[in-house]
Amino acid sequence: DNPALIDTFGRVATDLRVSLTDRCNLRCTYCMPAEGLPWLPGDDVLSDAELLRLLRIAVERLGITDIRLTGGEPLLRAGLEDLVAEIAALRPRPRLSMTTNGIGLAKRAKAFADAGLDRINISLDTVDEETFRTITRRDRLSHVQAALAAARDAGLNPVKVNAVLLRGVNEHEAADLLQYCLDNGYHLRFIEQMPLDAQHGWNRGEMITAEEILGLLREEFTLTPSPAERGGAPAERWLVDGGPAEVGVIASVTRPFCAACERTRLTADGAVRSCLFSNDETQLRDLMRGGASDEEVAHAWRMTMWGKLAGHEINDAGFAQPIRPMSAIGG
Ligand code: GTP
Ligand code: 5AD
Ligand code: SF4
Repeated sequence: DNPALIDTFGRVATDLRVSLTDRCNLRCTYCMPAEGLPWLPGDDVLSDAELLRLLRIAVERLGITDIRLTGGEPLLRAGLEDLVAEIAALRPRPRLSMTTNGIGLAKRAKAFADAGLDRINISLDTVDEETFRTITRRDRLSHVQAALAAARDAGLNPVKVNAVLLRGVNEHEAADLLQYCLDNGYHLRFIEQMPLDAQHGWNRGEMITAEEILGLLREEFTLTPSPAERGGAPAERWLVDGGPAEVGVIASVTRPFCAACERTRLTADGAVRSCLFSNDETQLRDLMRGGASDEEVAHAWRMTMWGKLAGHEINDAGFAQPIRPMSAIGG
């Protein structure tokens, strides 16, 4: 049996993105409605023991070298510091990162670094209090700013900031956000909005494209292509005013990077997906609960990845959004 998660296009997945919960304590308008979503029932969510078993299989049998914890909001998972320590104890040790909204992180950043977390990405779309309230429907800007500083001071560097620009809401704050990140030593990336919201409200004309983002930034800064190797990374990087500081653009829609994709995904309820946008997924939780062996689970995971499509089909006629919203897949 091939130890790698390889697909029919020859891509090898070495990067596992794990959703720890579908719940969130913010309500970003581009993600979910004000009232939230029908969350997964507790029994459906993988226990820590089940999750650790899958991660062990991934690093021991499937060649996974990088694990990213996502959500929903991963910090809402009870006992996360302990889980991080147990993941960091797997051999070969995976590189371990987290993507979070930062709420409540300020007090926990040091504990996560001590437990073995290597890096962190924090979502922040604006540094204006009122705009923050408009986008997230919560009044928590200062909490996120404290989280960023705490993560940097705990050594979870480089601290990356993920920002989504919304037309008429925060697009004119793009340069301010970049200045804030430059001033504080955070690495900012702007993300094109993807059709993954629970309300199915995405529309192409509303999306701020990578070209527009670069145009907005160039009103204030000089951008030149970064010489850094991109590899399978979603972000295209630009030197700001000659460098060394950089800004990234994740142009999932207008400049897809699927051909270099290195990712496989596990949902909080134990389904493996070969792509953010795939519509079939395989229930590893049910296999495990039915008594499957490690090798049977590994085999099912390999088969799922073998079925990975060439890329998302957002730009094709007849594209249909995946059934799960992003908050239930893991960004
Ligand atoms: P780094 O290794 O820290 O650069 O992480 P990353 O950019 O891969 O991860 P992060 O979780 O910060 O995600 C940033 C944005 O990239 C989010 O909007 C993700 O949804 C998006 N993203 C991550 N992986 C994929 C992918 O496979 N396909 C697409 N289309 N978007 C992705
Ligand atoms: N399109 C693009 N990015 C999104 N995010 C959440 N929903 C979307 C979407 N529909 C962002 C979050 C977070 C990152 C993981 O993905 O803001 O920064
Ligand atoms: Fe929560 Fe992230 Fe969705 Fe915002 S984008 S509501 S922080 S899961």
